[in-house]
Amino acid sequence: MQFPNDVLRVLTDERTVIHNDRVQVPFEIDRAVYERMNKVLKEMGGRWDGRKHVRAHQFPYRIEEFMRQCLAAGEYPSKYDQGWFPTPPRLVTRLLDLAGIGPRATVLEPSAGSGAIVSQAAQRGGVVDAVEYDERRAGLLREQGDARSVKHADFLSLDPLDLDEGYDRVVMNPPFANGIDHIRHAIGFMSDDAVLVSVMTQGLMWWSDRKTVEFRQMVEDAEGEIEELPDDSFRECGTSIRTCLVYLPSWPGSSLRTHEWWVKQPRQLDLFAAA
Ligand SMILES: C[S@@+](CC[C@H](N)C(=O)[O-])C[C@H]1O[C@@H](n2cnc3c(N)ncnc32)[C@H](O)[C@@H]1O
Repeated sequence: MQFPNDVLRVLTDERTVIHNDRVQVPFEIDRAVYERMNKVLKEMGGRWDGRKHVRAHQFPYRIEEFMRQCLAAGEYPSKYDQGWFPTPPRLVTRLLDLAGIGPRATVLEPSAGSGAIVSQAAQRGGVVDAVEYDERRAGLLREQGDARSVKHADFLSLDPLDLDEGYDRVVMNPPFANGIDHIRHAIGFMSDDAVLVSVMTQGLMWWSDRKTVEFRQMVEDAEGEIEELPDDSFRECGTSIRTCLVYLPSWPGSSLRTHEWWVKQPRQLDLFAAA
């Protein structure tokens, strides 16, 4: 959900105090703007505390870094708009620790949003290529300048064979609705000495439909792991969505269909090309 312009102006005003679990606007604002801001902050999980010594929106968790991300993106996740959930900073740290991103490692973020993962990965010395379907967020990623490249594209339509070589690391928090498709497709972008780490909905751990069961089998065959994340992992996004982490390592000869696997597949002959 995009912040209304006037609310964004108030929240990014240098006099506004966003600290720990509070958002405080210590100056006069128009009543209508206040109402709009109050609505946004409530959707993000805040609550007005009018006591004289507080007079601020109070959140049940630390909002500071997360609010910074949202204000930079110009949008916030609300219960009415489930499509965009920036990964909270603490969880990004966890993902990147697990992925083990070292200096100059090539990293793919295939559904990069407004760059929560991209920026931390770049800070660790990773050389990051980002893909994002939403044009505005792709523009924002370019402005941030943390990624080596930003593609405004549907990741699922990209062909791994357009790359000369696979990535050292793939780190992602894809849209959950078709997260399995995103992770499977991302495997095709891994080198044969790579690690993929993804956030996914916890349903992945117990859903019994064929697609999910086959996915779990693929993870097991590849000596990967699916680990439950604490229930409050996305609390600061105002959602109690339950999530898990998928960890997949690759090596020469592993069962994963990595970039090298695709390169080795015989190309289909175009029998009509010469006609
Ligand atoms: C859950 S958000 C996560 C954003 C970012 N990965 C992060 O961790 O903060 C998912 C993002 O995937 C993007 N997205 C959805 N479908 C996509 C697709 N087919 N190709 C690329 N990006 C896509 C959405 O626009 C959204 O920004």
